[in-house]
Amino acid sequence: MQTAHLLHDEHVEIEALMKRLHGLVRQQGLACPGEADRDAVMSKLSEIIAGIQTLLGGHLNFEEEHLFPRLAANGEADMGELLTAEHEPIREAADSITEIARTARDEGFTAESWRRFHRLAFELADRVICHAEKEEMALLPLVEELLSADDDMELASAHAKSRFKTGP
Ligand SMILES: [Fe+2]
Ligand SMILES: [Fe+2]
Repeated sequence: MQTAHLLHDEHVEIEALMKRLHGLVRQQGLACPGEADRDAVMSKLSEIIAGIQTLLGGHLNFEEEHLFPRLAANGEADMGELLTAEHEPIREAADSITEIARTARDEGFTAESWRRFHRLAFELADRVICHAEKEEMALLPLVEELLSADDDMELASAHAKSRFKTGP
């Protein structure tokens, strides 16, 4: 089953990305990055934000646009609905931290924007890691069990196209 492997590999990459985000805010703490550490923080951050937009964003879109409809067509709509509901707060947190990081790239962080970023970064990392672990336990076995070889091939090809479209 290519689809389950592709999703698993992306979950591993996404978890690593979230751990980098977590590490960055944990290391910096609540102290707003000043002149001395601004460049180091911003360069780590721009790589993390690019990953959030392409890898995480592309992954959520692929599941919603291609995988969940295919599960629903095989009589398993509930799983897709439940997981899509978890994608919403993940997208909101991802969009908010992207916006704060983009403003900070031009204007620097303020004490307030860093505090907000710090809180949202922990929230996003926790939500995403929890969600990916849930999918590893509940979604991937269902994908293996339910999808036909044709479904699997079509999804793998849709995945390759979406990865190409959203890749860096
Ligand atoms: Fe998901
Ligand atoms: Fe996923």
